Amino acid sequence: MKTCKRLGLLTSGGDCPGLNAVIRAVVRHATLTYGWEVLGIPYGTQGLLERKSVSLNVHGLDLRGIDPLLSTGGTILGSINKGDTEAKADEVIAGYQFLGLDALIVIGGDGSLAIMNQLAKKGSMNLVGVPKTIDNDVAYTELAVGFDTAVNTIVDALTRLSYTAASHDRVMVVEAMGREAGHLALHAGIAGGADAILIPEIPYSIEKVCQTITELRDRWDRRFAIVVVAEGAKTTEGQERYYTDALGEVRLRGIGDYIADQLSYCSGKTIEARVTVLGHVQRGGIPSALDRLLATSFGKTAVDLVAKDDYQKMVAWQNGRVISLPIDEVTSHSPVLVDPHHPLVQTAQALGTYIGEL
Ligand code: F6P
Repeated sequence: MKTCKRLGLLTSGGDCPGLNAVIRAVVRHATLTYGWEVLGIPYGTQGLLERKSVSLNVHGLDLRGIDPLLSTGGTILGSINKGDTEAKADEVIAGYQFLGLDALIVIGGDGSLAIMNQLAKKGSMNLVGVPKTIDNDVAYTELAVGFDTAVNTIVDALTRLSYTAASHDRVMVVEAMGREAGHLALHAGIAGGADAILIPEIPYSIEKVCQTITELRDRWDRRFAIVVVAEGAKTTEGQERYYTDALGEVRLRGIGDYIADQLSYCSGKTIEARVTVLGHVQRGGIPSALDRLLATSFGKTAVDLVAKDDYQKMVAWQNGRVISLPIDEVTSHSPVLVDPHHPLVQTAQALGTYIGEL
């Protein structure tokens, strides 16, 4: 077994807080414990395609540039959310070989991990995956890097919005990200005290949202309300809200405005609603303590897997510790959606929060 390795590291897909903390953990452990060389690949697979790399620990132990990464948002390596990796599979694999990598750690969501896993099989690449996504929809891991910080960002927004909502007797509709998964909206909605939480997994009726809010007002004299709606939420008739941007990309967007208008109509214009689309604010900012802990633990274990030549594995968080399992297993069960019978759904309901038509 070769003891001195050349390790590649890339970030792929949408960014999130905590990516840099994984990079720091990988560089520190690989350098200080194993004495390996670590190469950062810029812009995910684009860097492999272009055969580019940056040395993250040139000959040694200069960690001054590395340590601040623990608390910075984004990714110093850059990332792309879309690409032609599959179409250019041979060139990506050739890039890995050209750079002389012994192994590659990919920090990505289920989409990136699935693509890289296919390429690894095709081209004998030694892969270790680290799950990241604010959507928290990667299978077999209770937490992916970035989720906790995004939840905290939304909760902070809900707290701020509650004050202004209460001052004006308004309903604040807050649109959260998450694609087809409602984990972000559900967690943040509960932690932020929302009166209605609408997620893609449980269809909602606008009449029931309206009824919940007017009852709060008329029966309990609670004259403002907070509605958290996931960007992919659907009515009981299956309606979603999309728009096509200037580049022809179809994006989930606009459900917040739709809900706000419908609430006005439904209530005979007695509800005054305002909309906040949190958008990419949810992906920005410095990582929370939990994300730093997760990122550091994941990075450390990913490096240990490489040390054992234990490849095509992803690290995962289960029951308060890091485990590893085959990426095949993970990608065939992702994305993971909210189970409508999850205790968190019952908790929300028990407190009178409307969460859709179960
Ligand atoms: O998957 C993460 C995510 O932030 C989703 O929640 C959101 O729908 C999407 O990415 C936005 O992607 P982009 O950064 O390409 O606009």
